[in-house]
Amino acid sequence: MRYMSHLLPLSRVARLVGQPRSTIQRMIHDGELDTFDGMVDMNELLRVFPDVRWEDDGEFRRVEEIKEKAFARRVYERALPGKEVLAERLHELGREFAAAKSLLLHYDRVHRFLDDKLDDLAERAGVDAVATLRHWLRTELEAAPDEAARAEALLAQESVMRIMSATVTVRPSGHEFFVEGNDTILEAALRAGIPLNYGCSNGNCGECRARLLSGQVSKSHPHDYVLKESEKADGVILMCSYTAVSDVVVEAGVAGAEDIPVQRVQTRVKAVERLNEHMVALRLTTPRSRRLRFLAGQHVTASIGGDAGEYHVASCPCDDRQLTLHVRRDNRPFARRVFEDLRKEDTVDIEGPGGRFVFSLESRRSPVFIAWEDGFAPIKSLIEHAMSLEISEAMHLYWIAAAVDAGGADHYRDNLCRSWADAYDNFFYTPLSADDGLATLVERVLAAHANLSRVDLYVAAPRPLLDAIREAALARGLALRGWHGEVIEPFPGAPATG
Ligand code: FES
Repeated sequence: MRYMSHLLPLSRVARLVGQPRSTIQRMIHDGELDTFDGMVDMNELLRVFPDVRWEDDGEFRRVEEIKEKAFARRVYERALPGKEVLAERLHELGREFAAAKSLLLHYDRVHRFLDDKLDDLAERAGVDAVATLRHWLRTELEAAPDEAARAEALLAQESVMRIMSATVTVRPSGHEFFVEGNDTILEAALRAGIPLNYGCSNGNCGECRARLLSGQVSKSHPHDYVLKESEKADGVILMCSYTAVSDVVVEAGVAGAEDIPVQRVQTRVKAVERLNEHMVALRLTTPRSRRLRFLAGQHVTASIGGDAGEYHVASCPCDDRQLTLHVRRDNRPFARRVFEDLRKEDTVDIEGPGGRFVFSLESRRSPVFIAWEDGFAPIKSLIEHAMSLEISEAMHLYWIAAAVDAGGADHYRDNLCRSWADAYDNFFYTPLSADDGLATLVERVLAAHANLSRVDLYVAAPRPLLDAIREAALARGLALRGWHGEVIEPFPGAPATG
């Protein structure tokens, strides 16, 4: 039995089947799952995932947990939409339910009429074929196949999801993300790692203007910026002021490194975490109203009093107000302060961002990341960004470092890299020793990738290693647009790279 066409966005499909979005994209790419206009039909979902128990899903459990108040109040508020949005979503579902019910009533009338006509025909003509047809029709309508129960469970689960969150699709980039709780469209996009263009984030500058192409939004934060009447008529909204009530499609710009202005933000130290003898993870929190806008892979200037140093941000822009810097023990005054007397709640001034070592959002090539010693910081930010975007391509990380005893940074977040490899079936991690020498290291990395024309190389290393990898990779077929290099200062005390 087939059910009426019911199209689902990919993000919701991924949640329904409990798989990463990248897996769904891969299935579509491999022809295992059909789509229509970028959406998946419910019938197709039931066909491809016959074994999924729809009622036993995390989304239902999440709702149950919220109902039982197992979460702290803050999480409770974060997960649930506001009353107005909830009312509007229920209203929309109620409208759909009413339309489906009236259609069913209509089908029921048609069925009765047809049944009567078949009775008449059978009596008058006495044709066996009519009796057979009537029998088939009754059997089909009265049967309650397993598929019907599965479709019912799927629809119920999808309805819960639609009450809890809405999907936003961005044109022309094609990015897709969920809006949950009371988040604005902009907040939800940034949390998902999608760098939509914006300025003040509080309704004053108008830089987050977007055009609503379909779906329903509602204003969740007031704004002072005044939209022109012509813009309003054209469906223009401010993404920092509006939330999505239903699934929406917006036309909005995605920011590149050149679009982000230099900012000055005063942060507080959340933790100074000693990673090993030579490395510290400095965790900072920005004020609620003054987040740092940056792209993964960029660097900032950090200062305590007058003591400053330039560092790559090691955290993902999707980490909201949290910033992490990896600080090496060296002679810079900032590093000395961090290692010697920086405490929780102290103030650290951040100025930035800078640099163009950023993720290529439009690329469909596989990213290969190469980090040398603490060049891992920008690489970590890039990887976490790629993961938040749920890219479907395979990702490889090669981390070259010398042991602490040999004066190197060592693979100071080795466990994190291994946990990524365990958690993601498209992520591969290879730690390498800096003792192996430049030529051997270049060969080990490049020999593992036979077709470099399908690869994006992201390398954060000192100049000699950077140049050697670039030259060898281009000679073996790497496209120029696939090269992304960032110069890292040699690690003090570690073996030279060239
Ligand atoms: S970011 Fe300034 S108005 Fe939205």
